[in-house]
Amino acid sequence: MNVILITGGAGYIGSHTCVELQERGFDVLVLDNLCNSHAESLNRVEQITGGNVRFIEGDIRDRSLLAQIFQNNAISCVVHFAGLKAVSESCELPLAYYENNVSGTITLCQTMADNGVRNLVFSSSATVYGNPASLPITEDFPLSATNPYGRSKLVIEEILADLHKADSRWNIALLRYFNPVGAHPSGLMGEDPNGIPNNLMPCVSQVAIGKRKILNVFGNDYPTSDGTGVRDYIHVQDLACGHICAIQRLDKNCGIQAWNLGVGQGHSVLDMVRAFEKVSEQPIPYEVVARRPGDIAACYADPSKARNDLGWVAKKSLEDMVSDVWRWQSQNPNGYYG
Ligand code: NAD
Ligand code: UD1
Repeated sequence: MNVILITGGAGYIGSHTCVELQERGFDVLVLDNLCNSHAESLNRVEQITGGNVRFIEGDIRDRSLLAQIFQNNAISCVVHFAGLKAVSESCELPLAYYENNVSGTITLCQTMADNGVRNLVFSSSATVYGNPASLPITEDFPLSATNPYGRSKLVIEEILADLHKADSRWNIALLRYFNPVGAHPSGLMGEDPNGIPNNLMPCVSQVAIGKRKILNVFGNDYPTSDGTGVRDYIHVQDLACGHICAIQRLDKNCGIQAWNLGVGQGHSVLDMVRAFEKVSEQPIPYEVVARRPGDIAACYADPSKARNDLGWVAKKSLEDMVSDVWRWQSQNPNGYYG
């Protein structure tokens, strides 16, 4: 059977995608250097699916390891999650981000080409739209970057476009994720950020569980319904399913295409706080502080291209997202090694 190589498969989105792939009978092989994850996430994938996950601990920049992996396995497609993703860290360590994300992707694509594998699903981000002039965002909006992390995604998208231009046998899905949140409904898998989380949901859940005293709300003077930032939060399981649809589309020779993976609806920071308080029955004390540099007021997708081309729609509600995060957080207060 053909193998799907999942780079970064031990991470948050990758591990949830492994579950969906395994449950549909795909043969997956995970390559991850565990720089931002634990192998325990893959044990949980096995627990949920009852199947075995093949895992290689290694780096996408390791050319000889990659060559060996492609020579030893009948890989038909690569789902490429591996990358560094913290915006503030990327401003401090831009070269590390370009090295890991951009050089890593180049090494991966070179090895794919050397081995005649030209089907790639790439984890891009809504960050490539910069500060959008209007909402909702469609895939043909102008692209820009405001930080090295975002620029690494943008540069990779451009490199992949050049690659397809040079060799039209490539089929590439650029999946632009909006704001992934949620956890597996079993409570066995979820987001386990290293150190102090940057993103809203892990911060909110850590306040609810008592690991942090207070949530900082970054500004309440945005031109939004309640003044706080608005985002398109999408359940990680819905996002994972989007990858299955993309893999199936690649098989039909789609060329290179970008798809927004979002719900198409915006929620403010305070909407998220209230939803979390309701589900967890815990108070979430918060304090409004200054805007976070680089933040935009509002961002949400028009996901109709993914619906029309991939037959994909996000199905989970905000309540599902929040209750699954709460189940994960309360059952695993210290993440995978709690
Ligand atoms: P994550 O950090 O949980 O997963 C990334 C995985 O890649 C980790 O397991 C890490 O150990 C691995 N990795 C990093 N560099 C590697 C390398 N050189 N070789 C091998 N493995 C490596 O992050 P995630 O939230 O699951 O994100 C997955 C992808 O989606 C990333 O590319 C990220 O930029 C992108 N993305 C994430 C979000 C989000 O909010 N989570 C939003 C948009 C896009
Ligand atoms: C951030 C990144 C973006 C990345 C995305 C997914 C920045 C500037 N942007 O986006 O590039 O693609 O994560 O990884 O870092 N908020 C608070 N208090 C907090 C945390 C967040 O009020 O403690 C607010 C933010 O101001 C924002 C919303 O919550 O309005 C969501 O924030 P976050 O989860 O960090 O996602 P993004 O800002 O969309």
